[in-house]
Amino acid sequence: MNKDLKAHWEEVYQNKSFEEVSWFQENPETSIQFFEKLNLPKNASIIDMGAGESHFVDYLLEKGYENITLVDISEEALKKTQNRLGDRGKSVKYIVADAGTFKAKEKYDFWHDRATFHFLTGITEIEHYTQNICRSLNTGAYFLIGTFGEGGPKKCSDLEVYQYSPDDLSEVFARCLTQKKSLKTEHKTPSGTVQKFTFCLFKYDR
Ligand SMILES: C[S@@+](CC[C@H](N)C(=O)[O-])C[C@H]1O[C@@H](n2cnc3c(N)ncnc32)[C@H](O)[C@@H]1O
Repeated sequence: MNKDLKAHWEEVYQNKSFEEVSWFQENPETSIQFFEKLNLPKNASIIDMGAGESHFVDYLLEKGYENITLVDISEEALKKTQNRLGDRGKSVKYIVADAGTFKAKEKYDFWHDRATFHFLTGITEIEHYTQNICRSLNTGAYFLIGTFGEGGPKKCSDLEVYQYSPDDLSEVFARCLTQKKSLKTEHKTPSGTVQKFTFCLFKYDR
């Protein structure tokens, strides 16, 4: 666990409300659009990496998904989510961990990452993340990732971030994942800035 990074994110979530952060989305519609088409069974095991306060979990619970794990480096972020969900979120598992060192103990059918992977800028952490995914997906599982795209921000939350095209992401995850779909899209921040994003759906078919 990178302690400085954890302290950074704890501070963010202690001092900023859900609506104030640049990555705020009332409704994670792009993720939902990709997910819906997969028609995964309700007992599918689902992980959201760097879930923060995202409402993707609310959508999943509403649709009856019962095996959901939320991971974030910030304990505060997960506590806020847990409080928001209340009784609705009783079945949700919460893990405080650094994506750059986290080793999943379960296997997943769907791995979601919106705006987390692009914060990993060290080769070791990126390598670890891709290895972890390849070890932790069931055959036929999907990985949906949304990162800053080409021409996207170079910094977010005062931290350096990377930008990826769909081809870049294919290359990074080539060891075990095949790209099925991609979408170049834009996110409008609460202050009105437009950020370029790349979403890619991958399948683990080894
Ligand atoms: C830009 S926010 C996106 C949050 C959420 N996915 C969403 O779409 O609203 C990035 C999230 O990743 C978390 N994060 C950043 N670096 C991380 C790391 N190395 N490991 C785990 N989580 C991390 C942050 O705490 C934050 O919640």
